[in-house]
Amino acid sequence: MQRLDTAQQLRAWRAEASGNVGLVPTMGNLHAGHLALVAAARARCKRVVVSIFVNPLQFGPNEDLDSYPRTLDADLQALEQAGADAVFAPAVEQMYPHGGTTATTVRVEGITDMLCGSRRPGHFEGVATVVTKLLNLVDPDEAFFGEKDFQQLAVIRRLVADLCMQVDIVGVPTVREADGLALSSRNQYLQADERKRAPALAAALADCRARLSEGERDFVALEARGRAMIDAAGLKTDYFEIRSPELTAPRADMKAFRVLAAAFLGRARLIDNMAVEPAPGQ
Ligand code: PAF
Repeated sequence: MQRLDTAQQLRAWRAEASGNVGLVPTMGNLHAGHLALVAAARARCKRVVVSIFVNPLQFGPNEDLDSYPRTLDADLQALEQAGADAVFAPAVEQMYPHGGTTATTVRVEGITDMLCGSRRPGHFEGVATVVTKLLNLVDPDEAFFGEKDFQQLAVIRRLVADLCMQVDIVGVPTVREADGLALSSRNQYLQADERKRAPALAAALADCRARLSEGERDFVALEARGRAMIDAAGLKTDYFEIRSPELTAPRADMKAFRVLAAAFLGRARLIDNMAVEPAPGQ
């Protein structure tokens, strides 16, 4: 596995890479969820490059940029074992050479006005900007993102379509702990008692998914029930929303939905979502 620290090294690697190339963008501190992205890329692409970059642009002023877990040595070992061909791990100055700033950003309108976008101003602009830069640097055939960040995945699909980028965006299903908690680097912020309560988020989503599958369509009541379940477990709901799979407002005649939620628990803000698929034959 080759370690690439500069844009120049990355471009040289890309120029030599034969066959289709898969990019797995990450912020490091890799867990089984990230490794599922690498496995998906490995299964579909001849060459796989993983980026590790904690992107300052996507953190708000009061968020966890400084304390975000950075575990490069362990990440490199895990990626070697997972069969990545190259790791791009740039310093901030490599990605933002003008004193850590950028005059140009990418803003995806509409889809970023809700859910995490309305709660974390500037977050998706930071994500869209760094992902655009990574896609420009690597020029991959396919790029892999987790469905746990479902709104992020939708934002990236939209930016790629709007900017006529020639890359397939592949969504990879969420990896969960045995008790349902979605894997996230931020789970490490949880104290032992908080960790026990954290699966309430996934449980509330699963409850809502089951009710929608059974035909319940009182969205206001279902969302209130979801929030109550989460709050009753000692988390503080940020949002609990039923949407269409494209994240538009749900309608009673729809068969497929996405249920999305975010909640605060101790130092962590947890997010998760689940799909409601139409029953076979519907
Ligand atoms: O999902 C993440 O880890 C980040 O938002 C991403 C896509 C690597 C951009 O920094």
